Amino acid sequence: MNPVADKTKTDPCISRLRCIGCGAIVDHADQDFRCSNCGDLFEIFYPGWTGSAGTRVAEHDAASLKKSWLERKSSFLPADTSGVWRFREMLPTLNPGHKPITLREGNTPLYELPGCARAAGVDTLLAKHQGMNPTASFKDTGMTTAASFARQEGFHWVACASTGNTSASMAAYAARGGMRSLVLIPEGKISWGKLSQSLDFGAVTCQLRTDFDGCVKVLNEVVKRMPVYLLNSVNPYRLEGQKTAAIELLEQLAWQTPDHMVVPGGNLGNSSALGKALLEMKDLGLIAGLPKLSVIQAEGANPFVRSIREHGGKTLTPVEADTFATAIRIGNPASWKKALRVIEATAGTVEQVSEIEIASAKAEIGADGVGCEPASAVTLAGLKKLVRQGFVKPGESTVLILTGHGLKDPEFTLKFHRGDLFAGTRDEEDARVLAAQQHAPIVLNANVDAVIHTLKQFDRADSSR
Ligand code: F0G
Repeated sequence: MNPVADKTKTDPCISRLRCIGCGAIVDHADQDFRCSNCGDLFEIFYPGWTGSAGTRVAEHDAASLKKSWLERKSSFLPADTSGVWRFREMLPTLNPGHKPITLREGNTPLYELPGCARAAGVDTLLAKHQGMNPTASFKDTGMTTAASFARQEGFHWVACASTGNTSASMAAYAARGGMRSLVLIPEGKISWGKLSQSLDFGAVTCQLRTDFDGCVKVLNEVVKRMPVYLLNSVNPYRLEGQKTAAIELLEQLAWQTPDHMVVPGGNLGNSSALGKALLEMKDLGLIAGLPKLSVIQAEGANPFVRSIREHGGKTLTPVEADTFATAIRIGNPASWKKALRVIEATAGTVEQVSEIEIASAKAEIGADGVGCEPASAVTLAGLKKLVRQGFVKPGESTVLILTGHGLKDPEFTLKFHRGDLFAGTRDEEDARVLAAQQHAPIVLNANVDAVIHTLKQFDRADSSR
């Protein structure tokens, strides 16, 4: 008898890996986290959550879980102050003597966006801001789990290919955990803010002359030849941590399920992770229903949208991706099958948005006093379309998942407000519609009258509106 399989009968936190393609069950994956039978991805599951008659085990009684998660909010223990490990009954367990590597990730705010609600044509609109994590993106919630398992397995090196946020996060958690990190990023195609983070945290940062998808290809070979632990989102321990954002969200909503959740789609790990949490919470009786989870991509990086619209989700043809939202400049998303399952299971949908729509939505979110990076703003741009199509009704509740902080990509924001974001692109003419949202800095002499004159000009414009 397999000792792990045997233990799962008594311990609800024991986890195993199951291939999403052929269903093979293993306890250790190869370095590339691909099934050796069929090449598909693994997901983590918890055989002990259900008893032999399909009933839930007592340790996972919904009411007592909710109670102990709340109680941990008044604790000062590192694992309790982490907004990820606070939900540890839903996560794989580290072996005795191994502590999580934590930067107190999670614990992110839920904001109302009244101006954006008006712009989208809905009564109310909420945003869960995952950019308010320690390295300013949602990646930290998954990095705390996966990096902790890397350290437990004794790895000296961890590595990722990235459009910038995964690398920033991995570099930080590796540094905290005493590991070396290797970053592969597409040269010239990630924001300075993100690049500076991986340098700051001591990663060996390689800018490859290719795109994100090219970086993934190179890294997949590196991990097969060197003892390096892969921290891209094909690593199922990443997704387990990332799924806690949905648990935390539902807790913030007093376990009342919203009608819709809207998530940006790049490599499609995040939508897969959030969806996994929703389905697990439903199974465990933590929530009564499921929100419809919809994924939004940039038009220039839309392989998932095309897969669903053109091939009914049966195959995915990689595209050559291009968008100013560099975080989601991805043409061959690894987790598309997982994300597809989520969309189908929650009755969500997919949508794509133009560069101008992304820029405008980012400015609208900014006008509500909330900064986010361009990739996060696809959610609002997408929501507007979903409302126009009638998929989201004005009275329904929606939560946008904002994935990255506004200061991740200030160059985009500056160019937008100076009016030169689209200069020299095919969108230059159409981008004139953005003028009303732009607030370029005003250069004046150091003169009181000049400042007062400017103030009055704006005041007059405001009162004539
Ligand atoms: N939003 C931001 C800010 C991101 O950084 C990413 C992905 C996404 C959305 C899309 O999430 O890939 O799970 O569908 N960034 C990755 C990176 C790919 O390397 O930082 P996804």
